[in-house]
Amino acid sequence: MARIAVLASGGGSNLQALIDRIAALGAGAPAEIALVISDRRAAGALERATRAGIPTAYVPASAPEGALEAALVDAQIDLIALAGYLRYIPVPVVQRFHARMVNIHPSLLPAFGGAGMHGMHVHRAVLAAGATESGATVHFVDEVFDRGPIAAQGRVPVLAGDDADTLAARVLTLEHRLFPWAVLALARGALALTDDGRVQGARLDLTLDSPLSD
Ligand code: GRF
Repeated sequence: MARIAVLASGGGSNLQALIDRIAALGAGAPAEIALVISDRRAAGALERATRAGIPTAYVPASAPEGALEAALVDAQIDLIALAGYLRYIPVPVVQRFHARMVNIHPSLLPAFGGAGMHGMHVHRAVLAAGATESGATVHFVDEVFDRGPIAAQGRVPVLAGDDADTLAARVLTLEHRLFPWAVLALARGALALTDDGRVQGARLDLTLDSPLSD
């Protein structure tokens, strides 16, 4: 059974979606969440983890170099899932977890990704650009922010009258399907990054209604 670490800086609703999916699968789950790490002591994600009986670690930006990697190694983590984690991942961690770390981003990457594009900034930029659709992307993490190979992507419409809050809520509903699917597919080996950088088992066509069994 794969041991997953979820890294989150915020409320942790994607973490919750993964917790719930694993619970629903019961003995059939291919993975367990062995650790939740946050750089913010007050992160809702830590509270959700504690409520679910999952070990937590607080690793602030001021922690000594190597602290994040040490926490992951100590907990014998196999896979990392970033869910609203706002810190840069140190290069040694990126390298150690090559092909074993994914991130969820609330846009149709490569659009609206990169430095400064997180949270509401993304949704505001989508609206300002007049885009007619948005979505969410799960990608493998490499050295370039928001640019790793895409593992899963889904789209939602941008509706007339949307503001950043309504658009964010629609995208988040999609994220709650996409994120558990991708993380558990990775754990089962149904989703993989090959040595030559191709993604096997990617799902790029999801909508809020498409069936997403695992
Ligand atoms: C999500 O929109 C995710 O795509 C982004 O940060 C947000 C995290 O939300 N990276 P939550 O903490 O999972 O509720």
